[in-house]
Amino acid sequence: MITLEQAREKLQKYGQEHVLKYYEELDDGRRQALLAQIEGTDLSRVEACKHPEDLLQRGVITPLASMQLGEIEANREDFTAVGLEAIRTGRVGAVLLAGGMGTRLGSDDPKGMYNIGVTRKLYIFQCLINNLMDVVKEAGNFIHLFVMTSDKNHDATVNFLQEHDFFGYDGKYVHFFKQEMAVACDYQGKIYLEEKGKMSTSPNGNGGWFVSLKRAGLLDLVHKEGIEWLNVFAVDNVLQRIADPCFIGAVIERDCSVGAKVVRKNAPDEKVGVICLEDGRPSIVEYYDLTQELMDAKDENGDPAYYFGVILNYLFRTADLEALLSSLPLHVVEKKIPYLDEGGNLVKPTSPNGYKFENLVLDMIHQLPSCLPYEVVREKEFAPVKNPTGIDSVESARELLRLNGVEL
Ligand code: UTP
Repeated sequence: MITLEQAREKLQKYGQEHVLKYYEELDDGRRQALLAQIEGTDLSRVEACKHPEDLLQRGVITPLASMQLGEIEANREDFTAVGLEAIRTGRVGAVLLAGGMGTRLGSDDPKGMYNIGVTRKLYIFQCLINNLMDVVKEAGNFIHLFVMTSDKNHDATVNFLQEHDFFGYDGKYVHFFKQEMAVACDYQGKIYLEEKGKMSTSPNGNGGWFVSLKRAGLLDLVHKEGIEWLNVFAVDNVLQRIADPCFIGAVIERDCSVGAKVVRKNAPDEKVGVICLEDGRPSIVEYYDLTQELMDAKDENGDPAYYFGVILNYLFRTADLEALLSSLPLHVVEKKIPYLDEGGNLVKPTSPNGYKFENLVLDMIHQLPSCLPYEVVREKEFAPVKNPTGIDSVESARELLRLNGVEL
């Protein structure tokens, strides 16, 4: 463990000495904890917010054709048979990304604990498990489900799922792991304190899932069980089809490193990342990077060239992920960060007040040699719950659930 002097030196190097402001007031245990946190934190990451222009230099963007509904329908039987065979032989696992803070939704509980029911209780986790159970029934066997949480919501998530008997899922097939945390800072790059003896931290983004899975020792289980494909999905899409046999079959048949479920955009300027090639490799261009020129571009059939948005449902070939060498780029994201004010009182801001530093799962796509974008019908498979009302909200998700015959 570093000494107080060493900690001070390390902080000084990055202009963060204020982190020790309350050190003298702390009891021994909390002093040790703070020193340990300083020792374990890569302070150079925070510097990234001072030079955002250096972070994400984009390459040359060209179109990547998606497999569209017509082609999928024509091959549905074949693809489904291949996918089911992979599931039945235990070669498919699922990874639920549930480490996010869901700040836009505004509930203190993990997002999966949100009750989206109206006349009965129907939790987001329950919706997801129900969807997965459809495939379990079709295939006749359970699928290993890896659940990523963070320090902030781990215990609540585990307790909730255990108390509800995993909503009928076999608990032997559910494995939890925690993602890493990263410090958060104000707009000047000063690290916030969330307690007198603790720097503000938040989960380091959903792109850390594979590293965290490995760190938790679960990659050994993946190997032992012979899991070759991992279907990674977000907690907030209540219509999410998980381990979808037809999708799995299509990716296997096309021999791609990764498959990405995509939907046709609502409008050229809709705020979703679109799938493309960047310098000849699969990639996703975020909506704020999508220039008018790209929005207007047409493919060889005269259709919009960048018109398929990702919905955070990817099927990764495990072996190809293990071969990834370089680390993922860092994204600086504006968020609401609880902090101690000058008087040492905890403030929970109502609007963004600083930066978090995240790795994103979509950047993994760019490191893989091949990707199959696979179109799904948005009304059937895409109902994200990001906000309480309006676009991508509890309200819009309820409407879509009803449309799909889910009793609320
Ligand atoms: P979002 O990008 O919507 O982020 O996550 P969020 O933090 O949950 O929500 P806001 O922006 O604060 O409102 C998309 C998916 O990635 C997961 C989320 O749980 C969700 O399934 N995620 C996000 C993580 O697992 N870890 C993270 O660090 C961030």
